[in-house]
Amino acid sequence: VAAEKGEYRHFMQKEIHEQVRSLTDTLAGRVDFDEGRIHLDTLNLTAEKARKIEKIIVTACGTAAHAGMVGKVLIERIAKIPVEVDIASEFRYRDPLVNPNTVVLAISQSGETADTLAAMEEARKKGAMLWSIVNAIGSQAMRLADGCISMQVGPEIGVASTKAFTAPLVDLYMLAVLLGDLRGELSATERKRLVADLSLIPDLAGKCLDREEEVKKVAYALKDTHNALYLGRGINMPIAYEGALKLKEISYIHAEAYPAGEMKHGPIALVDKNMPVIAITPRDPWYDKMISQVEQVKARGGIVVVVATDGDEKARELADYVLWIPETPWLLSPVITVIPLQILAYHIATLRGLDVDQPRNLAKSVTVE
Ligand code: G6P
Repeated sequence: VAAEKGEYRHFMQKEIHEQVRSLTDTLAGRVDFDEGRIHLDTLNLTAEKARKIEKIIVTACGTAAHAGMVGKVLIERIAKIPVEVDIASEFRYRDPLVNPNTVVLAISQSGETADTLAAMEEARKKGAMLWSIVNAIGSQAMRLADGCISMQVGPEIGVASTKAFTAPLVDLYMLAVLLGDLRGELSATERKRLVADLSLIPDLAGKCLDREEEVKKVAYALKDTHNALYLGRGINMPIAYEGALKLKEISYIHAEAYPAGEMKHGPIALVDKNMPVIAITPRDPWYDKMISQVEQVKARGGIVVVVATDGDEKARELADYVLWIPETPWLLSPVITVIPLQILAYHIATLRGLDVDQPRNLAKSVTVE
């Protein structure tokens, strides 16, 4: 098994570094850059079916649910279809409102998570259209669905999911563009620009990976903290949740995530010099709001780490530490902003001497309730 890790110490680190390849693979065969069109043939989607959809409910657990939260922003913005995100263990027991014009979209790396499969069965019983985004080929979540998008990232072994988080973000973006196109929501110019932006993603991910040593310095500064607060807004709000989840899973540091606008309703009370705040502030439509929230944290003596875009002088001035990302089209920014947070969690955990591939109490795939 050691050999399969190649030059890396852990599968998690190897899988983080595989993301240039895995993102390239998830685009392969699906994007026609000349015509500016998306092909997701295994979804069995027609224009007629696409026009029938009144609502999409994304259901998933853990990291996959965070991908779904980004998908909500993408599909609502690009395809103009209302989207709800429902944790699978909640959906399955709540007698959810679903009808034949509802799509229930399950996201699962393993395709075998018990709660996600039960949510799919509930959706089937209620007559919904049933789709999935799955990594493990031939798994239940792939077979149960009417249509499926395969993540195409290869096996993921590290318990903390990394490459199987960024791939579904790209899949959801492609799905949003396809739905927007089939429902006549996109002009040809918009559609072509959205498709062209996909070509940038593997290289931008690679630029983040090249900066591992800089992230490691920040990990060193944070390694002894007992708490951390992650803040984001809009399309990057779910990345705050995912960053916090990565940290707690493998470093056992208490980490909380909040939509930054909710700070004033409670979590700001926690901020002092012992509470590092990690704020996700790329150049997206929520940038100015995020910066003013970072100013409030700074005014209360908190240690501030920001994920910011190259050349952002404001972020550099305000923050104690910056995790720099290259400039990215904002609808795709979560694919890039999460990478330094994966690397940060990885190094904090290894500096604490922990086995990141086998974190205590956690399983890669939870096949029992
Ligand atoms: C477990 C894993 C998580 C994963 C979740 C959902 O809790 O430790 O990393 O996000 O299950 O798994 P799935 O295979 O359905 O994506």
